[in-house]
Amino acid sequence: METEAGKMWGSLPPVHFFSHGSPMMLCETTESSDYWRKCGDEALAHNVKGIVIMSAHWTALGDQIQVATNPAPRILPVGFVPSHDYKHYPLTPDLPTAQRCLDLLSAEGFTVSANPHYNWIVDVYIIITRMFPLGNPPPTTVVSMNARYDPHYHLKVGSTLRQLRKENYLLIGTGGAVHNLYRNRWMPMIKYRDSLAMETPPEEWALEFRQSLEDVMTRTSGPQLRRAVTRLMKHPKFRDAHASDDHFMAAVFVAGAAGDVDDEGCHGVMGAETWELTNMANLQVTFGEWSNQGAA
Ligand SMILES: [Fe+2]
Repeated sequence: METEAGKMWGSLPPVHFFSHGSPMMLCETTESSDYWRKCGDEALAHNVKGIVIMSAHWTALGDQIQVATNPAPRILPVGFVPSHDYKHYPLTPDLPTAQRCLDLLSAEGFTVSANPHYNWIVDVYIIITRMFPLGNPPPTTVVSMNARYDPHYHLKVGSTLRQLRKENYLLIGTGGAVHNLYRNRWMPMIKYRDSLAMETPPEEWALEFRQSLEDVMTRTSGPQLRRAVTRLMKHPKFRDAHASDDHFMAAVFVAGAAGDVDDEGCHGVMGAETWELTNMANLQVTFGEWSNQGAA
């Protein structure tokens, strides 16, 4: 990536759009899991203050958004993967930062509340456990989506929380690039617990939307990135690629967090790509990079 000296974004931690994929990504070694580990190592090396992550599997109803404040969350069970692979992982809820998020979002006019009952769901702990496989995750704050899935709303959540990057927080959206459970090829998973089998190439609609997302994320920046990501929801293949909007909201959140005027010139970089279930594209895209923030 071209790093433009003097640009505001050059002094901020990166923002990640991570496609968590199927539950098998919790235990499979893939290009994506290697990349997540690399991103985790870099965050620790730069003394990341905490992680703020928007969950694709947690929605708030009405006009609400919620922030997790459970001081002792559990990991919710997940299908296909033996529980010994994850159930002993130490979770690190960050209640002070949760309050910061509540205050920042409230000040921007969001109807936001604390949720002291939230337990971690697979979309979050796949990412956290693979980024920090040694069991040393930084303090982590989970933010919900809103079930109306308004892209401009979620863009604003990202732009509101963007300021936390100035304090060395790492912002992550966990969702999916192409993620339509109804159009996956499930048989190898059901028969053999193999999500990586590719009996045929991905279908045309999946390839086309995946390419459009890559083009938007790697070739636009700043406010143009924000406009382009929200516009992808009008892409002719959007509904094929996303049967529901939830996993795309992570991309919109990320565009909000990394698409300020000060982020112009900060293009996304494709860190890794893993296809599962024939038609599920797990793209891992990073905006910005660690420079000397917090480095020892
Ligand atoms: Fe998911």
